Amino acid sequence: MDGLGDVEETGLSEAERETFATDVINGLSGAAKSIPCKWFYDVRGSELFEEITRLDEYYPTRTELSLLDDIADDLGDRLPERAWVIEFGSGSSRKSDLFLDALNDPRGYVPIDVAADYLEAAAGALSERQPHLQVRPIAGDFTEPIDLPADMAEQPKVGFFPGSTIGNFEPPQATRFLAQGRAMLGDGGHMVIGVDLKKDTDRLLAAYDDAQGVTADFNLNLLDRINRELGGEFDRERFRHQVRYDPDEGRIEMHLESVDAQTVRIDGHRFEFRAGETIHTENSYKYAVEDFAGVARAAGWTIDHHWTDAEELFSVHLLAAA
Ligand code: SAH
Ligand code: AVI
Repeated sequence: MDGLGDVEETGLSEAERETFATDVINGLSGAAKSIPCKWFYDVRGSELFEEITRLDEYYPTRTELSLLDDIADDLGDRLPERAWVIEFGSGSSRKSDLFLDALNDPRGYVPIDVAADYLEAAAGALSERQPHLQVRPIAGDFTEPIDLPADMAEQPKVGFFPGSTIGNFEPPQATRFLAQGRAMLGDGGHMVIGVDLKKDTDRLLAAYDDAQGVTADFNLNLLDRINRELGGEFDRERFRHQVRYDPDEGRIEMHLESVDAQTVRIDGHRFEFRAGETIHTENSYKYAVEDFAGVARAAGWTIDHHWTDAEELFSVHLLAAA
């Protein structure tokens, strides 16, 4: 699968645009400026993320794909037959075929993603590749409660949360998300989740600050999106992509650094930036296997099994509700 072609941006609903505006205005009004990372993913942001996944420096995607391929038979043996696969943050659904093919006769696929236009295109493309499967996409924020269609209530459900998107939550938020997932997937539920591991700092920094500047473009695209959708007046030439690793928190941080002192207007609001001041745009927590297991247990899951690649770059955990 090589990209989804031209995906049309239809934009946010009025209610979503208001939530975006509130998140941006509130995030830029505090002493430490920040914007939630879910707003990266308009169509352009989703495409740039997809480009990131193919970079030499960005080891997580190819490592996880190869690990999922290696453990496919084992996953098939451990997971229920005729299950619904519920994928959180499905993006291009590039990993989904591998996962669906590992399961025994899956009933259907429910990709959930906040990037509605990209989700629709990805779900359509997956449906064409897997014509016998029921595909029922849900556009929305997976941190909010989501009701699955009533006919799935009594049927086995397997959550799939690859990519270490769990690392974009603060650990307490990760516990909350996993507890909500456990309630959603029910007492017989399972969750297969990809988690990036702690490693050498230089390797981590390179993965988030690639030589071609694709990750910089992904980060700066947030300013273009604010300009386009919220009437912002950011000049992206006056901001720089910045990446840090915080060893105490065990997380990569992405920031947008103001090159000089400036005032930025967004739809009647004014925000002052000092030279060097940053907008914190993303955290990407890296876990030791046992630390992640602790987060999952705190959310009410049992650890059925975990796998890592030979270099111990990335882990896949199988969680069971029972
Ligand atoms: N699962 C894919 C994509 C990971 S990128 C992979 O492993 O490569 C993260 C995805 O999560 C994006 O598609 C983004 O749109 C989605 N996402 C981020 N925050 C979200 C949220 N709060 N609710 C729903 N989807 C979200
Ligand atoms: C989606 N998420 C897990 C990616 C990550 O690695 O934290 C997003 C990303 N940000 C920069 N590069 C990739």
